[in-house]
Amino acid sequence: MADKNSHSSGSISRKSLIFLFMVSTIVFIFSWFFVLRSTGHPQLIDYTSFTSSKNLATIDNGNRQSRNPNDVQPSMRDPLETTSDSSDSSDGSLEAALVVKDVASCASNKIALKVFMYDLHPEFHFGLLDWKPEGGKVWPDIQTKIPDYPGGLNLQHSIEYWLTLDLLSSNFPNRNGARSAVRVFNSSEADVVFVPFFSSLSYNRYSKSKSPHKKSVNYSLQDKLVKFLTEQEEWKRSGGRDHVILAHHPNSMLDARMKLWPAMFILSDFGRYPPNIANVEKDVIAPYKHVIRTFVDDSSGYDDRPTLLYFQGAIYRKDGGFVRQELFYLLKDEKDVHFSFGSVQKDGVHSATKGMHASKFCLNIAGDTPSSNRLFDAIASHCVPVIISDEIELPYEDVLDYSEFCIFVRTSDAIKEKFLINLIRNISKAEWTRMWNKLKEIEGLYEFQYPSKENDAVQMIWQAVARKVPAIRLKLHKSWRFSLTGTKRPSTIVPWSKSKHLFRELRV
Ligand SMILES: *[C@@H]1O[C@H](CO)[C@@H](O)[C@H](O)[C@H]1NC(C)=O
Ligand SMILES: *[C@@H]1O[C@H](CO)[C@@H](O)[C@H](O)[C@H]1NC(C)=O
Ligand SMILES: *[C@@H]1O[C@H](CO)[C@@H](O)[C@H](O)[C@H]1NC(C)=O
Repeated sequence: MADKNSHSSGSISRKSLIFLFMVSTIVFIFSWFFVLRSTGHPQLIDYTSFTSSKNLATIDNGNRQSRNPNDVQPSMRDPLETTSDSSDSSDGSLEAALVVKDVASCASNKIALKVFMYDLHPEFHFGLLDWKPEGGKVWPDIQTKIPDYPGGLNLQHSIEYWLTLDLLSSNFPNRNGARSAVRVFNSSEADVVFVPFFSSLSYNRYSKSKSPHKKSVNYSLQDKLVKFLTEQEEWKRSGGRDHVILAHHPNSMLDARMKLWPAMFILSDFGRYPPNIANVEKDVIAPYKHVIRTFVDDSSGYDDRPTLLYFQGAIYRKDGGFVRQELFYLLKDEKDVHFSFGSVQKDGVHSATKGMHASKFCLNIAGDTPSSNRLFDAIASHCVPVIISDEIELPYEDVLDYSEFCIFVRTSDAIKEKFLINLIRNISKAEWTRMWNKLKEIEGLYEFQYPSKENDAVQMIWQAVARKVPAIRLKLHKSWRFSLTGTKRPSTIVPWSKSKHLFRELRV
């Protein structure tokens, strides 16, 4: 009996297997047909990527090790280094679409970004400028006196100072003109949460000295900041995703960034950042403040600038050093080329100003980081930048076409005999003049000042932050799916401990 039964049920299941097989074959063929047809149809592709990310979000809740190979984003610096934050990257195409839509609507609506700013202890910001708080005040009264930021090369990373001043003044009744961001005092109403830590100054002031006390200040501020932030309700609610953290000097947040990485960083480049910690999707690239003087009332056109190509910079031991040396040997005997090593410090600023103002083209070669203030010095000098830096990311490039006023040359081409010099000599006067005029048109986008003016660097950076907001919201809303009202906590953020293994193999 048992045998017979199992035999008959065996034959039934064989029949149903055949049936199932046929059905699934048809489904398979049909779905392939669907997939093939769908290539080239953006909606259908979005739909597929959306379903896959939905699955990931459910399955990987709390465990983001698995990854979908289709989700590697081409815009990431190195796909191999892209790590386990897979549900974030799987949202890529969808978010990108939303962001693009939003750029258009932001531009037309001109709604100011609402920014909540933590009242951090002054030791994190104006205390570093030797401002002495009185009566437990956190912020200086900037309507009476504005503490000075230290000069010299410190200034190139001073964006922390200008953005904070802009926020502090955004509610002044007599404030007129540009206002891309306003400070709000209730964090529930804010688009983003701003962390006013002057990290670049802290690094510059407290890391380079030999005194052990200064070292410990450098270290302890980052430590304290991490403690403070991770205890805040605002941070817990978003896992930090809507926080804006300034780290313009490439070394300024070496420790803290490993713990604060879900936040949006404002950086000079991604050179020393692993792509899972910082990347173009999540973070904002801000310009350096140029250190050489703006060429005011520049009427010095093509024929008034005797030097064809100008470079003055340090020679580096690491990565970029080789290219600089190579170019030096290729260019040193060329007529009308100024190529010399030595940094633009101290008295160098004066001669660099003269040199750039008298040159048609200014070289920007990657050094030990992909970016440098030299590009912004060139823009301020209306000296057409020639950029040789394959990894460079540029400020506001989503709204600005740099090819209109910069020449880009791949490193592999630049080091070919005669390639660069022929390319430059071959650019006509008319073409150069078009770029020179464009430089004069856009130079204001790179000016840091207080009070800030319409579309200057401060306003442009806030606008760039604003363009990230829809993508942040999407991530937040998804992370809240499984939390009950009133207990909003991100359910899909990688715990710090789990994210640690990602950093071991990184070259810092
Ligand atoms: C902050 O804003 C939220 C949402 O608008 C509101 O519910 C809350 O009462 C506000 N808190 C304060 C202290 O005003
Ligand atoms: C300063 O801090 C950075 C990052 O925390 C650290 O890497 C560096 O070693 C510190 N500098 C000194 C001189 O201790
Ligand atoms: C210079 O430009 C001309 C015309 O634009 C082009 O035919 C020629 O190949 C260029 N030469 C070099 C060396 O790039």
